[in-house]
Amino acid sequence: EKGAYPHYMLKEIDEQPAVIRRLIQKYSGDNGKITVDPDVIQAVTDCDRLYIIACGTSYHAGLVGKHLIEHLAGIPTEVHISSEFSYNMPLLSKNPLFLFISQSGETADSRAVLVKVKKMGYPTLTLTNVEGSTLYREADYKMLLYAGPEIAVASTKAYTAQMAVLSFIAVATAGRKGLALDFDPVHELSIAAQAMEQMVDDKAQLKEIARDFLSITRNAFYIGRGLDYYVCMEAALKLKEISYIQAEGFAGGELKHGTIALIENGTPVLAFATQENVNNSIRNNVEEVLARGAHTCIISMEGVTEQPGDQIVLPKVHKTYTPLVCAIPLQLIAYYAALQNECDVDKPRNLAKSVTVE
Ligand code: M6R
Repeated sequence: EKGAYPHYMLKEIDEQPAVIRRLIQKYSGDNGKITVDPDVIQAVTDCDRLYIIACGTSYHAGLVGKHLIEHLAGIPTEVHISSEFSYNMPLLSKNPLFLFISQSGETADSRAVLVKVKKMGYPTLTLTNVEGSTLYREADYKMLLYAGPEIAVASTKAYTAQMAVLSFIAVATAGRKGLALDFDPVHELSIAAQAMEQMVDDKAQLKEIARDFLSITRNAFYIGRGLDYYVCMEAALKLKEISYIQAEGFAGGELKHGTIALIENGTPVLAFATQENVNNSIRNNVEEVLARGAHTCIISMEGVTEQPGDQIVLPKVHKTYTPLVCAIPLQLIAYYAALQNECDVDKPRNLAKSVTVE
C-alpha cells in the first residue's frame, strides 16, 4: 500500500536506501564480505564472455553492470536489448553465460532469448525481483533483487537494486579469481545508501530543477560520459515515460557528431558529471551547448568534480557506486516534471508494468 504517499513511484524512490541496506545484509556473510551463491560465481568465472540480455530500465542497469564486471572482475561482457538479440545475434564466444535482468521476470522479449539460448545448450542466469516468475523458473541459476513489490510502471528501486547486485557479482567473481580490490565494497555501498538517503531527504532542490528546466519545454537532453552516460540514458527514459517530454541521453563526445544541431535558445541540457576522469571533457560539452543557447544544469559530486555554480552537488561516493546516487535525482526530476504536466505518474499512457507480448 502506498500509505501517505500520493504515488507509488514516490514511495518506491524513497525506499531505495533501505533496499540497498537490505541487499548488503542478504549478500554479505558473517565476515562482512560480499557473498554470492558459489554456483553462480563458478558459472561466471567459467564463462569466457557474459551476455547480458534485458529491456528498458533493466537494460540500462545492465550497461552499468558490464562496466563493473569488466573493470572489477575482468570478464568480457556484452549487453543486448532482448528484442534485438534474436535476429541480430552476435558471433558468440565458445563458453558464453547468459544473464537475464528483469524486474518482473515476465518480459516476453527476454524470455524469447532465454528459450532460444537454452535450446542452443548455453547456461543461463536470471536476476529478478520476482521469485517464481517465468524467467526465474526457467533459468539454470537465479539471483533475487529483494526490492519488494514495485507497483509504479516506472522502474525505480528495481533499477538501483539491479546495479547493486551486479556489483556483487563483479566483486564476488573478482574474489574467486584472486583479484584484489582497492576498496571495501560493503563499506562503500553503505556510504552510497547514506548518500541516497540524503538525496531523498532533500527533494526541494529537485522540484526546483524540474520547474526551472522542464516546465514549458517539449524536449530535453541529458549528457554524460562513461558511467554517467548510462545514467543519462535512464534519466531520459524516465522523463519520457512519465512526463511525455521528448528526452534523449547522449554521450558528451557525440554531440559534435550531429546532436548539437538540435540545440536552440532555451533547450534544456542536463549534464551528469560525477566521474573524475571525464570531468573536463563533459564540462567542455556543457560550454559548447551553452554557447548555442542551451539552458544547462550540472549535476556533479562533492569533492570529485564539483565546481562553483553546479546546480546539484551529490554527496561523495566511491566511483563504482555513483549511478546509485545519480538515480535519485534523475527519478525525482522526472517525477516532478510529470506532476507539472499533470500526467498519471504511476500509470503512464500506453504502457504496462510487465510487457508480456513480444
Ligand atoms: O520487468 P522488466 O525489468 O523485464 O521490464 C523491462 C522494461 O519493460 C522496464 O524496465 C520498463 O522500461 C520500465 N517501465 C521503465 O521504467
